[in-house]
Amino acid sequence: MQGMTMVRVWDPLVRVFHWSLALTFAAAWLTGEDESALHDVFGYAILALIGVRLIWGLLGTRYARFSDFVRGPATVLAYLQDIARSRAQRHLGHNPAGGAMVVALLLSLIATALTGMGLEGVQSGTGLFANLHDLGHDAEEWFEELHELFANFSIFLVFVHVAGVLLASFQHGENLVRAMITGRKRAAD
Ligand code: HEM
Ligand code: HEM
Repeated sequence: MQGMTMVRVWDPLVRVFHWSLALTFAAAWLTGEDESALHDVFGYAILALIGVRLIWGLLGTRYARFSDFVRGPATVLAYLQDIARSRAQRHLGHNPAGGAMVVALLLSLIATALTGMGLEGVQSGTGLFANLHDLGHDAEEWFEELHELFANFSIFLVFVHVAGVLLASFQHGENLVRAMITGRKRAAD
């Protein structure tokens, strides 16, 4: 890294949030079939992490803010085309495609966790949605299908997310995974 100016991009909260989210997601995924209370705990932890991140997206440091990286569909599509042509511009924070992925991941995870809580409510009459217990068997099937659907969609997004990170790292000649650990990136050219 000698002779290269490095700048702080990802603040500690973003980095701790990211790797905690990745770990709790893996844990929730692996315990899904268990009918264990542990699974619910991991799901709630994910919701709590996202809650903190949503606030930080409004109040946080420059590159953590939604206003820095959430772009409209036209900008995102144009950027995806640039990626396909290997001429996408490098961004210090999230690029427009990465920003869209952040939004998609957060929404899909929220939907997964909420349908999980719904399922918990219908199945066992516990948790925040305990009153759903009265809905009966059909509702249980519905929540189960929905919860599984969103969980599968989330893991699909994670694979695309990691593929996108690797592709962007390759196209811009930098290690984005390391940047999410150290918080530092090469300064703008
Ligand atoms: C080993 C697997 C993973 C790697 C290597 C990885 C890597 C990264 C990197 C490099 C970024 C920054 C992207 C950029 O430079 O614009 C990022 C952001 C992000 N990733 Fe991952 N990720 C992984 C797993 C996950 C998982 C499992 C989730 C969610 C379930 C996730 C959710 C996110 C979110 C929400 C952000 C935005 C961070 C923020 O601004 O707060 N990642 N990831
Ligand atoms: C975003 C976080 C979550 C992920 C990734 C996730 C993932 C999964 C997966 C993959 C399954 C197995 C689905 C199947 O049968 O194939 C499952 C089942 C289930 N989840 Fe979640 N879940 C999450 C959050 C939650 C939360 C917050 C709750 C409740 C508080 C919950 C409650 C349940 C219940 C009750 C089952 C059914 C277990 C059974 O009866 O076999 N989940 N989840």
